Amino acid sequence: MFTTLHDNSPALPLNAEGILELAARSMFHLLSSVSQGMFLVDHRGCIVWVNEGYQRFLPDLGFSSLDQFLGRMVEEVIPNTQMRRVLETGEPVLVDLLDNRAGTFVVSRIPLRDEAQRVIGAIGIVLFDQPETTLQPLIGKFALLQRDLDDARRELALQRGRSLAGAGERRAKYTFASFVGSSAAATEVKRQARRAAQSASPVLLLGETGTGKELLAHAIHAASARANGPFVSVNIAAVPDTLLEAEFFGVAPGAYTGADRKGRDGKFKLADGGTLFLDEIGDMPLSLQAKLLRALQEGEIEPLGSNQLVPFNARLVAATSRDLMAMVQNGQFREDLFYRLHVLPLRVPPLRARRSDIPALVEMLAEDLGLRNGTPPPELLPDALALLVAQPWRGNIRELRNVLEQAVLGSESRAIDAAQIERVLRAAGLEPTAPATHALPGDGALSRPAEAAGEAALLRPLAEQVAALERRAIAAALKAHGGNKQAVARQLGISRATLYARLENPDK
Ligand SMILES: Nc1ncnc2c1ncn2[C@@H]1O[C@H](COP(=O)(O)OP(=O)(O)OP(=O)(O)O)[C@@H](O)[C@H]1O
Ligand SMILES: [Mg+2]
Repeated sequence: MFTTLHDNSPALPLNAEGILELAARSMFHLLSSVSQGMFLVDHRGCIVWVNEGYQRFLPDLGFSSLDQFLGRMVEEVIPNTQMRRVLETGEPVLVDLLDNRAGTFVVSRIPLRDEAQRVIGAIGIVLFDQPETTLQPLIGKFALLQRDLDDARRELALQRGRSLAGAGERRAKYTFASFVGSSAAATEVKRQARRAAQSASPVLLLGETGTGKELLAHAIHAASARANGPFVSVNIAAVPDTLLEAEFFGVAPGAYTGADRKGRDGKFKLADGGTLFLDEIGDMPLSLQAKLLRALQEGEIEPLGSNQLVPFNARLVAATSRDLMAMVQNGQFREDLFYRLHVLPLRVPPLRARRSDIPALVEMLAEDLGLRNGTPPPELLPDALALLVAQPWRGNIRELRNVLEQAVLGSESRAIDAAQIERVLRAAGLEPTAPATHALPGDGALSRPAEAAGEAALLRPLAEQVAALERRAIAAALKAHGGNKQAVARQLGISRATLYARLENPDK
């Protein structure tokens, strides 16, 4: 068999050295043809040879001819190169990323040795010149793994937090870094909140719905001396009045028969050493206001069914979207409690008072949506962004998030344009406000006849339309009742818990 092959094919060299030399030469030719470019430096780091492939990078590196390039020290002509290290250490770098003004490259660097194994030069190889596209499958896989890792890390941090703070999620979820915004209004509220974090007095967060009061409450806790203690929150609007007292102050053992016979800790107790966040404080019934006032004055609470006072050690942060001062004037909120809470009032600005933050918020929300859906983040086209910036956003950041979410759900592609945003706004019963700088009439979807849009809105799944109607009804009722969620729930004939669920997650 060997002999027949020998007969009509060229012979391999007969000695090992000859074979090795042939292999090396073949490898060199192979690399030279499959790579994007190659060059050689001598032992001083001086460029002595460049192949044809490499020559097309010269203009991007700032050279118009090969002559200018040859003979120069490698670091003078290739920014960020690591060839010198290869010459110094004699160690090859099989795969590396090189970033410089000519682009991002996947490169290899191999030292060249003489017979005595001395490094006499090195060869630089550009394997890929557009890693974003050529290495897409690899980078995609890497991004997926990275995301899984991030999720696992987050879950682990959450579990650690839980075991540190006992049952339930009692850690701050956000820090000041989570509060996106660099407008004057956003910077100012963050400055005040940071100062409030340093103090031990109660903090009162005031602002429209969806402006980030809860986020700031978390951030204040995380920046305070109590950061290692629990963060416990009670949503007063979501707990039925009859259960609120037990929820706040706890139940003494034996106070009830049945499940609660053993007694139960209240939120004041659970927040021991940490922060107690009283959300929707404006919805607190007057009877409980009196008890809260006493607790604040005395620093002690009385669990239900006990006649003993127990001291508590929790820092209070309260929030409301209602006009507490007006409620005081109408006799709905105790004046003495108001002043107890009003020590460090923080007014969280509505989104329309800081429109310049909208692009950054959109970017963060898009990123978040992508992460949650396991897809690349949606990309807002400039006209869509301009339209978003122009809206009045009565529901603030929560509403902005919902609109983006709907637009992503209804979109076939990653890119979202103004027409899609407009459709979502209309489906939610909102008349889109045209951007101030919007060009000529007739150039774009904004001038589409309203009836056509109305008809189109009817030709969608019924569940979507019902959800949109619910959102409109809730928004209208909130406006009519000045944010009073109890009154809203009553008027719409739903429980406060349902109202809350809809506000938090309008699509369920
Ligand atoms: N500045 C911000 N940067 C990033 N996300 C924000 C910001 N403000 C608010 N958000 C997000 O917007 C949503 C609504 O915020 P949050 O729940 O804190 O509002 P709220 O003022 O408590 O509203 P409500 O009065 O209706 O309870 C949350 O998902 C929050 O993470
Ligand atoms: Mg809130």
